[in-house]
Amino acid sequence: MVMQKLGVSSLFGPPLLWITFVSGRISLVQCASPHHHHHHHHHVDGRLAVFRPTKMFVFGDSYADTGNNPKASASSWKVPYGITFPGKPAGRYSDGRVLTDFPAAYFGPRSPIPYRWRKVGSKYVKYGMNFAFGGTGVFDTPTARPNMTVQIDPLQQLIAESVYTGQDLRSSLALVTNSGNDYSAYLARNGSIRDLPKFITRVVNQLALDIERIHGLGMKMIAIAGLQPLGCLPGTTASDSFRTCNATINSLVTFHNQLQSRAVAKPNNCTRSPPFVIVDLYTPFMSVLNDTGSTKFPEPLKPCCVGINSSYSCGSVDQNGQKKYDTCKDPKRMFFWDMLHPTREGWRAVFSKLGSNLKQS
Ligand SMILES: *[C@@H]1O[C@H](CO)[C@@H](O)[C@H](O)[C@H]1NC(C)=O
Ligand SMILES: *[C@@H]1O[C@H](CO)[C@@H](O)[C@H](O)[C@H]1NC(C)=O
Ligand SMILES: *[C@@H]1O[C@H](CO)[C@@H](O)[C@H](O)[C@H]1NC(C)=O
Ligand SMILES: *[C@@H]1O[C@H](CO)[C@@H](O)[C@H](O)[C@H]1NC(C)=O
Ligand SMILES: *[C@@H]1O[C@H](CO)[C@@H](O)[C@H](O)[C@H]1NC(C)=O
Ligand SMILES: *[C@@H]1O[C@H](CO)[C@@H](O)[C@H](O)[C@H]1NC(C)=O
Repeated sequence: MVMQKLGVSSLFGPPLLWITFVSGRISLVQCASPHHHHHHHHHVDGRLAVFRPTKMFVFGDSYADTGNNPKASASSWKVPYGITFPGKPAGRYSDGRVLTDFPAAYFGPRSPIPYRWRKVGSKYVKYGMNFAFGGTGVFDTPTARPNMTVQIDPLQQLIAESVYTGQDLRSSLALVTNSGNDYSAYLARNGSIRDLPKFITRVVNQLALDIERIHGLGMKMIAIAGLQPLGCLPGTTASDSFRTCNATINSLVTFHNQLQSRAVAKPNNCTRSPPFVIVDLYTPFMSVLNDTGSTKFPEPLKPCCVGINSSYSCGSVDQNGQKKYDTCKDPKRMFFWDMLHPTREGWRAVFSKLGSNLKQS
């Protein structure tokens, strides 16, 4: 219904997908008075019908990065990344598209240009900008990429330079991913599992500051990805030959996601235009990964591209340029591309699951 009102079509899948994305906000809002409640839903529906973001601004990590990491060192710029799309490495952590590309394709003519490749005055600046860097967290990580604070700074600068106006920001969509690099960094520092909940609270509090800052810059529609089941990533399940998810880790992820939902519920609650939408990645990841009889992904927990042993990763070569990884025959039949990231088909499946969740609710 809303889809027809929007009058746009998706290159990448059923337009329904995006509606779930946006309508997530509705379930977050709970006002005390039933009158209020009803009124509010009306208001949100009205907004959705007319909301057509003209630009996207993207913050976060490798789930969203479309080319900001340095060409010289990042695996996203190495063969075989990008083999499905565009056919060569293009700075995306996938065989093809990543999360950012799906809403971008739905709404606009193109995915926003990576900050690294911007040119002032370029015609591409009008589609927004992608500030996401593979490897970042809200705090500093060992990969020393710009943390989320540092990613928001350039947007503030571009606003100060009048590259983007208040109206540009009001009519744009922000996408924020935070896929777990803070937690890998915590574990690499030998932080204990026992104290992890305390650290999760700190991460969510910092994320809340970051999204409030993005809101404060004038953005009215901010989609924040929930954490995917880290306990199911090939990097976690490798020691078990990619057979079962780690339930301990997934319960910590659930804790993170509950805190994150609570962090946005408060500012969203009964305000005239709730700015924050949680994009639940956990549920669609789980429903794909738990479907062991799937014909689409016969081995859902296995990655397509892996190093020949634990010393190597996807894209590694030795001093002689010999490749030290193996790639599956058909990335379209794999949910995971490498130890951490979905394939393009994986992302597509995640989005179509978001669609079916919507139909049920
Ligand atoms: C992010 O990085 C900047 C620059 O290194 C640093 O000043 C800031 O404290 C960091 N922010 C957080 C939340 O760690
Ligand atoms: C973490 O512990 C391992 C094994 O005990 C040790 O080799 C490593 O140096 C420690 N790392 C840090 C950052 O403390
Ligand atoms: C799950 O992960 C935790 C934290 O890394 C680890 O201590 C535990 O042994 C793992 N559980 C299983 C069943 O592998
Ligand atoms: C939302 O606001 C209502 C009152 O308008 C209040 O009862 C409720 O606790 C609030 N919920 C959150 C999550 O802040
Ligand atoms: C996975 O499937 C099993 C068996 O159908 C079910 O019991 C379990 O709750 C499912 N887990 C998730 C996370 O969906
Ligand atoms: C990985 O393979 C290389 C080359 O075959 C070998 O030299 C190295 O010892 C292996 N490393 C491990 C951890 O098995």
